[in-house]
Amino acid sequence: MIFDYKINKVKTLSKVISLIIILCLFSNGNFIKVSKNSSLSEKFKNYFFVGAAINKDQILQKDEKSNSIIKKNFNTLSPENVMKWMFIQPKPNIFYFDDSDKYVQFGLDNNMHIVGHALIWHSQIADFMNSIKDSTEMMQHVNNHISTLVNRYKGKVDTWDVVNEALNEDGTLRESIFLKVLGENYLETVYKMAEKHDSSADLAYNDYNLCEPKKRKGAIKLIESLQKNGAKINSVGIQAHWQLTSPSLEEIETSILAFSKLGVKVMFTELDISVLPSPWDQNGAEVSQNFKNFEGDKKMNPFPKNLPNSMKTKLAERYENIFKLFLKHKEKISRVTFWGVTDKFSWLNDWPIKGRTNYPLLFDRNYKEKKAYHRIMNLNMPNN
Ligand code: XIL
Repeated sequence: MIFDYKINKVKTLSKVISLIIILCLFSNGNFIKVSKNSSLSEKFKNYFFVGAAINKDQILQKDEKSNSIIKKNFNTLSPENVMKWMFIQPKPNIFYFDDSDKYVQFGLDNNMHIVGHALIWHSQIADFMNSIKDSTEMMQHVNNHISTLVNRYKGKVDTWDVVNEALNEDGTLRESIFLKVLGENYLETVYKMAEKHDSSADLAYNDYNLCEPKKRKGAIKLIESLQKNGAKINSVGIQAHWQLTSPSLEEIETSILAFSKLGVKVMFTELDISVLPSPWDQNGAEVSQNFKNFEGDKKMNPFPKNLPNSMKTKLAERYENIFKLFLKHKEKISRVTFWGVTDKFSWLNDWPIKGRTNYPLLFDRNYKEKKAYHRIMNLNMPNN
């Protein structure tokens, strides 16, 4: 009896051992991949920050499921809207800090790299600014805005997007209210102002379509001119509102190399990948564009319920290739931030056409990790 029992035990044990060996063999052959890392930020912690832009509900801790994803996966935060001029200073010298204070506190509580977005941007600006024609008056408001925000969050906000989207698609300077009223010098002036109020914060220039040759050239010129004129600029933010095939990996790589040659760090600041058809030839993220005539058009919203498997795979492969490229240039990249946490709240459900169902991020509408997430998490890491 005892002998039989022992034989059975040995048999079971050897079965378990062979199963483990088979699993190991498959795993070496890349068949089964179980990630050792528990989260995105943990996976890339030796190389760059990984983060997300968070919305008001997430800042106010009203969305528990998002919040647990954020705390687990990200070590840097960006404010999706609460720090924009129209919300933070809607009337001259009337500041609303409730939400932005909570945003910054969230970052501090969780030991995260905190981004301030954005000091000078023509979009989502307070109405009163649009009616100012006098340069001295406008400069006073610009100075008040920058000094108030940068001082309030001195030593807390780690990186400021000092200027957002100052360029046209052809690389020339955008005719924003700042350029029109203050003239070209406004750029170096605002960087110097930001530095004056917090000399240890990183200062960034942020824009979309910076992997398009003409606009990239314009951004290089802008950064060089800031440097020549003694303004501090630490990094360039490539927004990265991208599509499944565009921009090409080659163009992304060219931008990483070109910007880092200027001595600035490269950041991907608003990464999301749209899987939906675009209503115009020009890609990008011009927030003022809204195509009302396409609202409700079924052709423009082909996946209202679910993303087909073939598309899920395409998205996963695109993300995998992009992150492989990021790892290849890890010394040049300081941060990768997704523009949102889950597909459920992505701005791309409502832009550039309202009411669509898009799938641009790594977490789905049920807060679950998508195939794209796993592809990224299973990437082989460099040895150094
Ligand atoms: C977007 C927000 O996600 C939306 O909620 C808002 O309605 C419009 O702005 N470039 C930027 C971001 O720098 O601030 C924009 O965010 C997206 C494009």
